[in-house]
Amino acid sequence: MSTPDTRLKVCLASSELAPLAKTGGLADVSAALSAYLHDSGHDVRVLLPRYRQVESLGLDIEPVPGMANIGMRLGHDEIHYGIDRTVLPGTTLPVYLLRCPALFDRDTIYTDDHDEDLRYVLLSRAAIDMCQRMGFAPDIFSCHDWQTALIPLYLKTVFSWDQLFARTRSVLTIHNIGYQGMFPSWILDRLELGDARHHLHQDDLKDGVINFLKTGVMYADAITTVSPTYAREILGDDFGMGLNHLLRDRAGSLFGILNGVDYAEWNPETDTRIPVNYTPEDMRGKSTCKTRLMEEMGLDVDAGRPLVGIVSRLVGQKGIELVEQVVPAMLEQRDFAIAVLGSGERRYEDFFNWLKDRFPGRASYYQGFSNELAHWIEAGADMFLMPSLYEPCGLNQMYSLKYGTVPIVRETGGLADSVQQADPSTGRGTGILFRDYNAEGLYWALDRALQLYGNAALWQTIVANGMRQDFSWDTQGARYVELFEALRQTA
Ligand code: ADP
Ligand code: GLC
Repeated sequence: MSTPDTRLKVCLASSELAPLAKTGGLADVSAALSAYLHDSGHDVRVLLPRYRQVESLGLDIEPVPGMANIGMRLGHDEIHYGIDRTVLPGTTLPVYLLRCPALFDRDTIYTDDHDEDLRYVLLSRAAIDMCQRMGFAPDIFSCHDWQTALIPLYLKTVFSWDQLFARTRSVLTIHNIGYQGMFPSWILDRLELGDARHHLHQDDLKDGVINFLKTGVMYADAITTVSPTYAREILGDDFGMGLNHLLRDRAGSLFGILNGVDYAEWNPETDTRIPVNYTPEDMRGKSTCKTRLMEEMGLDVDAGRPLVGIVSRLVGQKGIELVEQVVPAMLEQRDFAIAVLGSGERRYEDFFNWLKDRFPGRASYYQGFSNELAHWIEAGADMFLMPSLYEPCGLNQMYSLKYGTVPIVRETGGLADSVQQADPSTGRGTGILFRDYNAEGLYWALDRALQLYGNAALWQTIVANGMRQDFSWDTQGARYVELFEALRQTA
């Protein structure tokens, strides 16, 4: 526990925070990191948009006195918003909510609407404005992905007059460089940069583009990304997605910190969502979870048949095209079953619906988002498949390890940093990794997993190795604190 003198003051602005608003791992990480900092005695103020999805949780939400109706001009738009306050469920962490129904009361968290840029310009500026109104001088402004990546530039320009921020350092955490927030330059007025507009990337502006994430890479005091391997990968042409040259210039300020796992949420010993709890010492509950999952998902109930699970956003990044190329043929040849949960691009949803019809009893698919079913699959499957093209960190492979569900992953990003190749000759290792992003690679990995599964003693050893791994926030969060403290020293 930090003492009042040493404790950090952190403002964390994020577009997702579990369980209030989640589309993927960003939500888990921003919630767990904030909760870790808070529990360690640091003063953390989190700001999240009050999306429509937040309402369904039935939280106690109260307006913050004096911040009920704030006006802000962004280009031609006069926006009215308020700041509300709640507490992150299961913790004592205060969470501030940006209430602006005109921008955030929509069907989905992210949209293709014409004002998507405006929604997150507001979040970014409101976070700074909130600090000013509270007289809160953060040591660290913690920004996440493109949605809050303009904050470093704002702090260095438009708000540089304010002594409150004289010692504030900004950290941009890149969770996924595949989403950069690129908008046509006609939105420029909405950023309200004034003379500071010449700090935007000028070649981009000439090309008619404003790239939010790139702006963050240019101006953040430090950049982190969510695994050491991904931190190296994004310096190259293949994974840098156009930002690699800029990132190379900033390599001295770029750090890879592997995400942690919130074991209060993801632990088969205590998980209240799964049918039966189990421990590494007594795994009987896992077979019950498997048969219940098979029943629930309309699979033939067969405890001896290997069951592969997938829980994923169905987008190009996740390597679903390899699943299309390999799994139907494998299901023809081999005796195993597959349970899939996910939603996303139509073509992948169509594929899994087709697969389910083609292999009734051995393939099942739930199209949609269900946290409950995600837990059931982690507990009930024997293997977990993540053949990602790229994966900044990935959380499900780490959840899988804890649940004794052997991960089959491509050797990239955080997957490479969290799974070790199982070696039948030594009994070491925790999963199966394949290197080449092609059908042969995945075929090899699945085939190997099924072979290893056939050797019950060896399989149990690999399962046990995985369950012993520890990716808790106690370790990973401490790395953020170390970085934040080092940055504070430079102030
Ligand atoms: P990404 O953030 O790229 O989607 P991660 O592996 O970091 O990948 O995190 C994904 C998170 O979202 C995990 O907590 C996973 O369980 C959850 N998730 C993804 N798709 C679904 C879904 N359809 N239903 C429930 N949870 C999902
Ligand atoms: C992103 C990445 C994923 C990572 C998550 C949380 O969505 O795709 O790999 O685990 O953010 O950092």
